Amino acid sequence: MHEESGRRHFLKATIMGAGVLASTPLLALTPRETVKIHNIYPFYGKHQEGILTPAQKHIYFIVLDLHTTELDKIKAMFQMWTNYSANLTSGKNVKNYSNNAYVPPVDTGEADSLNPHNLTLTFGVSAQFFDKLNLTHLKPEKLRDLPAFPREQLQERYSGGDICIQACADDPQVAFHAVRNLVRAARSHISMKWSQSGFNAFEGKDTPRNLFAFKDGTGNPQTPQKLDETVWVNSQDWLNNGSYLVVRRIKMFLETWDRTNLFSQEQTFGRHRDTGAPIGEKHEFDEVDINKKDDKGNYVIPEVSHVHIARKTGQSILRRSYSYSDGIDEHGQFDAGLLFISFQKDPEQFIKIQNAFGNIDKMNEYITHMGTGLFACFAGVIDEHDYLGKALFEQA
Ligand code: HEM
Repeated sequence: MHEESGRRHFLKATIMGAGVLASTPLLALTPRETVKIHNIYPFYGKHQEGILTPAQKHIYFIVLDLHTTELDKIKAMFQMWTNYSANLTSGKNVKNYSNNAYVPPVDTGEADSLNPHNLTLTFGVSAQFFDKLNLTHLKPEKLRDLPAFPREQLQERYSGGDICIQACADDPQVAFHAVRNLVRAARSHISMKWSQSGFNAFEGKDTPRNLFAFKDGTGNPQTPQKLDETVWVNSQDWLNNGSYLVVRRIKMFLETWDRTNLFSQEQTFGRHRDTGAPIGEKHEFDEVDINKKDDKGNYVIPEVSHVHIARKTGQSILRRSYSYSDGIDEHGQFDAGLLFISFQKDPEQFIKIQNAFGNIDKMNEYITHMGTGLFACFAGVIDEHDYLGKALFEQA
């Protein structure tokens, strides 16, 4: 078995194994009536679930702005979201329907008769969240705006915001339904700043291909120990067992890419397109040796290639990205690209890699970063007595 297959398999097995206890009692409560419930990731746990599970097929990512500076209201909103999320991820509606046909139904209903399709909901807060709520004393030092990077063309409409919700599921309607209902229930406290849906296509446990047709995710940390070291914050404060989420809406110039010959495409990434193997190797998970040179003394994996540059930094991040396609842009080209998402225990891990790409990453010719965000994702919700952000709100 390949290592990646092993990891996807391992993660799924571990998560599902751990989930039996967490999810079984919930099933006995009030599942949607006609649905055979399956494909559940457990909601309760030490960490938020939508970080380490293998990426599902769909994402609906939303960023929200706060409307109120009243802390009590925000705390109550997260308590409600916790409760609703536990229900949604186990295949239930946010609340049970009432018998009164003369009020709007408590759940919008478009996921009725659907199973949860491995729905995970992951919540994070930005630096501005703390500023708006007068909680700057609780804002982690590492939680500040990302620095400016070369060549980026950030747009206000894909940047900023106070709270993020990452909804991932193997069905797009299930993911959208979850966000729609969470937002609906909190409308008096928040407004929507920006959102992006995305997709990942793969058979079985294969690594998904991005819109440049290269397998994307191969170089992610593989072993549980390496993942732990890469992703989880280990601190004395409220963010212990949480993680930092970086999101970048990256436009990919598909037309330019499609005019590029295969040799150059492979030199851009440092991997072969069909197998995903490092250049010169045969299999996707063959070792990446960035110091290897050919007979003429040239690096086999080019120095300006994406993989060479990233590897050379010695930094590790967990990428959990999704492709997007959003119609046609103002130049008559596809508005398509990558909703890049990475998790790391320290934003510096991302910053160092992105700075290393700078102006030299060969891939820069084909992409532009248009949107950005940095969010601190709370630790997981342990049980029914716990709620999202409890460790933070109790100190506030
Ligand atoms: C549209 C933008 C991007 C595309 C299409 C892209 C695509 C890829 C591909 C095809 C690979 C090789 C396979 C793999 O290991 O997954 C890769 C590796 C990688 N990428 Fe990206 N990437 C993009 C943006 C980024 C950004 C913004 C970062 C972080 C700053 C990043 C960090 C990495 C890292 C750390 C690796 C693994 C390198 C290793 O083997 O150690 N990528 N990317």
